[in-house]
Amino acid sequence: MERTNKLIAMACLIALAAACTRQPAEKASALMAHEDEIARLIDQMTLEEKVNMLHGKHMFSSAGVERLGIADMEYADGPFGIREEMEPHSWNSLGLANDSATFFPTGSALAATWSEELAYRYGEGMGKEARLRGKDMILGPAINIQRLPNGGRTYEYLSEDPVLSAALAVKYTLGTQDNGVAVCLKHYALNNQEDYRGTVDVRVSPRAMHEIYLPPFEAAVREADAYGVMAAYNKVEGDWCSENEMLLGRILRQQWGFRGMVISDWGGTHSTVKAVTSGLNVEMPGQRYLGQALLDSVRAGAVDETIVDERVREILRVRLAIKPIPAGEANLRMTSQPEQQRIAYDVAVNAIVLLKNDAGLLPIDKANVKRVAVIGDNAVRPQSLGGVGAGVKALYEVTPLEGITDRLQGSGIDIKWAQGYPYYTKRDRETRVSPYTNTPDPALMAEAVELARASDLVIFVGGDNREVETEGSDRPSIALPLGQDELLRELALANPNLVTVFVTGGPLDLRAAQQVSRAMLISWFNGSEGGHALGDVLTGAATPSGKLPFSFPLKLEDVPAYSLGVYPQQNPRKQDDVFVNLVGNRREAAPSDGPVADYAEDLLVGYRWYDTRQVPVLYPFGHGLSYTTFGYSDLRAKADGKGLDIEFCLANTGSREGEEVVQLYVARPDSKLVRPLKELKGFRRVALQPGEKKSVRLRVPLERLRHWDEFAEDWAVEPGEAEVLIGSSSQDIRLTQKITITMD
Ligand code: GLC
Repeated sequence: MERTNKLIAMACLIALAAACTRQPAEKASALMAHEDEIARLIDQMTLEEKVNMLHGKHMFSSAGVERLGIADMEYADGPFGIREEMEPHSWNSLGLANDSATFFPTGSALAATWSEELAYRYGEGMGKEARLRGKDMILGPAINIQRLPNGGRTYEYLSEDPVLSAALAVKYTLGTQDNGVAVCLKHYALNNQEDYRGTVDVRVSPRAMHEIYLPPFEAAVREADAYGVMAAYNKVEGDWCSENEMLLGRILRQQWGFRGMVISDWGGTHSTVKAVTSGLNVEMPGQRYLGQALLDSVRAGAVDETIVDERVREILRVRLAIKPIPAGEANLRMTSQPEQQRIAYDVAVNAIVLLKNDAGLLPIDKANVKRVAVIGDNAVRPQSLGGVGAGVKALYEVTPLEGITDRLQGSGIDIKWAQGYPYYTKRDRETRVSPYTNTPDPALMAEAVELARASDLVIFVGGDNREVETEGSDRPSIALPLGQDELLRELALANPNLVTVFVTGGPLDLRAAQQVSRAMLISWFNGSEGGHALGDVLTGAATPSGKLPFSFPLKLEDVPAYSLGVYPQQNPRKQDDVFVNLVGNRREAAPSDGPVADYAEDLLVGYRWYDTRQVPVLYPFGHGLSYTTFGYSDLRAKADGKGLDIEFCLANTGSREGEEVVQLYVARPDSKLVRPLKELKGFRRVALQPGEKKSVRLRVPLERLRHWDEFAEDWAVEPGEAEVLIGSSSQDIRLTQKITITMD
């Protein structure tokens, strides 16, 4: 009886707390500015005209109503550059002269900057280039949580953490929409793997869904007024995302107040009545379900026309909020412009993560280094295109070798390159062996070792590439492909002055590389200016400041989903990728009995798992070194009824200017709920000159301390003891203070 009373009391307490966290009414959406005009337009439309708006017109457009002066909606992939113009009914490029765009560093690189200011500028850049291309909506940002380090789209997504992902998603959305272009948040929701993406059925607890996977989408809708959302290919709790009333109705529109439009992923629509009733606005591409079939359904009384009117209203809100660009005014100037190239550089140079730097090997000592060996296929390999799906026809891309050469020229340093290991592509049928079973190429290795031996410094540029990391399939391994581990051991024997740079979008198994590298960096798929950014960091013209947006596990087996045996799915079905089946308007129906993805690790995604289960990692979430050092002191944390006020002092204790990303974690050791050991609740990028000190203030709103109460089916805050942890990474905690979270 006692326990029951306690449970009732706790439920009341938490329910009371819930009332205090009910989200304040957000400012009205800009989309609501034309309701009367929209009502008049709908009244004038025929049923055929309404239905014609609810499906694809071309591969990347949906129809308006020319008779009423309603322009078509023009879409373009992002999320890391505006995709070239495609033929109307195919995946083939139209081959225009002016649609070469800026290749922005991909999502994981943007996240490695931990910079909201850069995320805003990134969205600004995407918006400006989308306008030059006559586009109304970009298909981005891609903001799914990286549950699997080997996920095919880890490079596109932002982080394993919802707070970091949400903060950057908000700014990317604001930057894009402030420049007259709608975003399309993708892929809503729980599209966290590419294997079986077209059929997998995600099973997840309400707490994990609300606390881990939905926050980036919720924040971009409620704080940035996102105009568009893309329904993901997969199922969630048995329902396809494109017809999932819980996701599209209850959560997106009712709980979050979303007023815009939902489009399907390409080929991800699965029904007529259920889809249009659940809240899908546009079937992309083609009209298998929301074309004639919808017309027939309305006429047969299976769908009330008021449902169609509501879907059209939601589209018209976006249409009237975005100024259409007549076809004749698009693509008149080259898409990529210097203003956006500058943004690409600023993101790239702040994204590079310095993992180690023994004995200050970096920055390169130009006075004592005269012969530099640059080794690796990735030193010369562009990353703007590759794999399946969206890429960028980049106006240019500075490769690592070009950037290093450019930044070292004139200093009397002789630079030579050797390929070291072969290029890997899935498209080359002859080399269709896994890149993970290859041993080093003997001739390439011998040539590289000989060059290393004859040099003062070796810069190895390894990692994987956009053929390896791609939508449509997950990486079967995070090992360095193509025998790079063995090559690195031989290079280090030939010359211990070995700097290793890894071009990658996701975590890699760098255990062997770490042993032999005196300095080691992650330089991402880092955009058109990536080579210049790398050259500036290696030569010291820029101080590295990036921090890992996800953990680097020691091995895949340590990843929660692998540890719990819930991934990869041992599904006998052939790899059913909707993308592969999609040819123009026709698509074989995806089987409805795909594999189940059991999110058994629940809240413990990424560092939440490794910290709580005390599983060692190679490099922790938030890790990144500088060429200077930082001191933390004088922490003062206090809780008021609306959140936490945190203040501390940060000093640059080294001899070079630098930027530190300070991280704020909160632990709840005495909580009555299951919780991760600690969780990120705030961060800030701070620039300091040598010797400079600054007071850093962080505000954590109560809303960010909430948890999802599965009984009340609402948010709640649990008052009580907490610990504030301030650190330079999730495992490099410099300051702590106990506080009591109160509701009054
Ligand atoms: C794809 C992707 C999606 C992309 C769309 C159009 O299959 O999942 O991110 O925007 O097709 O290219």
